[in-house]
Amino acid sequence: MSDKLIDVTEKEGVVRLTLNRPKALNALNSDLITELNKVLVELEQRSDLRAVLITGAGEKSFVAGADISEMRDKTPEEARVFASQALTTVKRIEHLPVPVVALVNGFCLGGGCELALACDWAIASDNAIFGQPEVGLGVIPGFGGTQRLPRRVGSALALDLITTGRKIDAAEALRIGLVNRVVPAGELDAVAEELTQQFAGNGRQAIRSAKQAIYDGMDQDLDSALALETSLFALALPVKNKVKAWARSSRSASRIFESAWYD
Ligand code: HXC
Repeated sequence: MSDKLIDVTEKEGVVRLTLNRPKALNALNSDLITELNKVLVELEQRSDLRAVLITGAGEKSFVAGADISEMRDKTPEEARVFASQALTTVKRIEHLPVPVVALVNGFCLGGGCELALACDWAIASDNAIFGQPEVGLGVIPGFGGTQRLPRRVGSALALDLITTGRKIDAAEALRIGLVNRVVPAGELDAVAEELTQQFAGNGRQAIRSAKQAIYDGMDQDLDSALALETSLFALALPVKNKVKAWARSSRSASRIFESAWYD
């Protein structure tokens, strides 16, 4: 592992970002957020990406939250700047045109949980611990948690977690839909590899459009969101050549798509 705040590695278009402050359980300080923002800006320029994985250095923690020692003495104005900078950064994750997967390898608390919520996917190790403990410190989530958590798990559960600050284990996180999968610690990388292979077999533009339809649509009324879906669906056509390639590899698909409509 390098001594950089973010270790960036890449294999066949899959970029892995390892947040690298293990002695502080990868707590997010301003320098780390600035660095993450910089890396994401670079990734936005790339047209050859397939997926991005985000994880924490060490075996104990994904991210244990915003850096409390840095945060505690901030004035309201400094806190606003800090939170805004972090919000801009996590928004970049949602806007990346490829799936972003949080590999949650341990503590995933406060700003760490909010970072995971901004990712499209979350795969947790079975020893992961989640929570929004901010109220215990006299603050509230400030990296998007009050908005993304209810969108992910519903407002009742979000209120439960945010107002009690209680921690939950990986099994509960899976049950409430906070994460997509739980796997034995040590198998995170293998499962991520399997998942990114699945992404690679699908249309790059289709994945991009699906992300856009889901995220942009959630913030609109139903009719506008459905109109957005129609536009993005229409823009994806024609798929004749793509479908033919797929049909060649699947017998049932061949029966469907070798119909007159596609000839
Ligand atoms: C800074 C942190 C940290 C954090 C842990 N550390 N969490 N440093 N900010 N959020 C540091 C500890 O100070 C310690 O450093 C080292 O990491 C190891 O932590 P320990 O507490 O010794 O480990 P352990 O006993 O295993 O307990 C792990 C833990 C606990 C349960 C995760 O560290 C903890 O409760 N951390 C705080 C979690 C939290 O409240 N997060 C929310 C932050 S607020 P030293 O130097 O002593 O070894 C937030 C707001 C976001 O995220 C919005 C902002 C706008």
